[in-house]
Amino acid sequence: MPQQLDTDWWRDAVVYQIYPRSFADADGDGIGDLPGMTARLGHLAALGVDAVWLSPFYVSPQADAGYDVADYTDVDPLFGTLDDADRFIAAAHEAGIRVIVDLVANHSSDRHLWFQAALAAGPGSPERARYLFRTGRGPRGELPPNNWLSVFGGSAWERLEDGDWYLHLFDRAQPDLDWTNPEVAELFDDVLRFWMARGVDGFRIDVAHGFVKAEGLPDADYDAHPMGSGFDRGPMWDQDAVHDIYRRWRRVLEEAGPGHILVAEAWVGPAERMARYVRPDEMQQSFNFPYMMAGWSAPRLRGVIDESLGANDAVGATTTWVLSNHDVVRHASRLGLPDPTGWPNGVGPRDPQPDAALGLRRARALTLLSLALPGSAYLYQGEELGLPEHTLLDDDARRDPSFFRHDGAQAGRDGCRVPLPWAAAAPAYGFSPSGASWLPQPEVFGDLAVDRQEGDPDSTLAFYRRALTLRRERRLGAGTLSWQPTGDEVLEFVNRRTRVVANLSGSPIALPDGAVLLASGPDAAEAAADGFLEPNAAVWLEASAG
Ligand code: GLC
Repeated sequence: MPQQLDTDWWRDAVVYQIYPRSFADADGDGIGDLPGMTARLGHLAALGVDAVWLSPFYVSPQADAGYDVADYTDVDPLFGTLDDADRFIAAAHEAGIRVIVDLVANHSSDRHLWFQAALAAGPGSPERARYLFRTGRGPRGELPPNNWLSVFGGSAWERLEDGDWYLHLFDRAQPDLDWTNPEVAELFDDVLRFWMARGVDGFRIDVAHGFVKAEGLPDADYDAHPMGSGFDRGPMWDQDAVHDIYRRWRRVLEEAGPGHILVAEAWVGPAERMARYVRPDEMQQSFNFPYMMAGWSAPRLRGVIDESLGANDAVGATTTWVLSNHDVVRHASRLGLPDPTGWPNGVGPRDPQPDAALGLRRARALTLLSLALPGSAYLYQGEELGLPEHTLLDDDARRDPSFFRHDGAQAGRDGCRVPLPWAAAAPAYGFSPSGASWLPQPEVFGDLAVDRQEGDPDSTLAFYRRALTLRRERRLGAGTLSWQPTGDEVLEFVNRRTRVVANLSGSPIALPDGAVLLASGPDAAEAAADGFLEPNAAVWLEASAG
């Protein structure tokens, strides 16, 4: 594998997120698995991605779809076995695709041996000191130790029968670990070593901004920093001491040789704070959430692009470009919402519905813009098919703990996690041989199935393949951006020999000269051939003449 020599592969890599539960099910239980993923690697090779990031497949009671890990060094039988993981890693490498796995170290599952031991050992024990157990406030300790809220809704504290409370920033089945306890750091050094020994190329660090809490666990000021506003602030987020952990991990990675990476899931702002996670002795990448949240607004997008490139450049890192993942409304639907800059926690049948056609047009346009930006791009499974959010899921089909902890007032994340359609005419659209699917698929998935899109030059799949091919050929990920003057709701830049124009306004605009390399949709391609760019469209033009 010649690319193995390239230790800086991540700087301009296209990374595809696999959500294992929903990618491909080989054994017919309705939940995707490792053998299913291995069998479908050809799809990813044909798409032309450099790496995959796998959401958790470890032993877990699945209280939060695997983000509640009971054993960090084994595979949950739902997903297969350790041998299946080895086979997947080997097959991916054979196809020239690197493998990043998820590391969930802010919290464990309440079924982890450590938490079970902590429950048994009782208040004040060294076993409890691996988590954040505290006594309550109030005369009988009947009030939580502080006012912190769970990201999923409700209090972040749970009380045991013996009177102690424990902290869970997420579900009550996800107790937070105490990262000031050296045993915790030692455990995860070994977890990193374990997976690198099995061949993985990197780790996506779940809740990277949350591991360390302010000393004394002071109350949060939720008036100043409301929950759900996107960028997390307050005494549980982005504390300076988290960076000591990443410096330590960087050394553990280096023990295993060059080419391994860490990527931060850190919902922090402004861009300078986020760039602290990718300083030269810490992680290599962090997800660009400000970009994902910029919505359909040219000035906002341009501002975020400049800020993130500037802040990352200043520490020698490249920027990532992300539009969707397993926690947010798919961008093909988000951008078709009545407010395309809105940021709901899911969309359900009782919420305003997106305009699917408009959403997809905008999604393809924004994707084209993103894939031309210098740096690394992250794709979420199904976006290459133009999949919409499932916005009409029944309440009784829902599984996301954030739906339940908000008492159903927020739809939560299930709508972006629906199993992929591979074959229009097969049971469960080819997701599972038995026709089972852990979340019901909407009918529109039939039209969007991979086999329907194969061979259709106007399909979203063909568009993604073409964009990734051109991006590689024209080395856009390793290029530089130079903005061109435009009107307010238009973005135009040149990267090497490619000129990118995106029209976010409501009317067509005249295009500058240059042969059309790729347009965001078939109508846009026709208009571009006549020298115009339609609203809600983008185009790549040959820029060599200038
Ligand atoms: C991250 C994951 C999300 C999970 C949470 C708790 O935000 O992306 O899916 O629920 O962490 O682990």
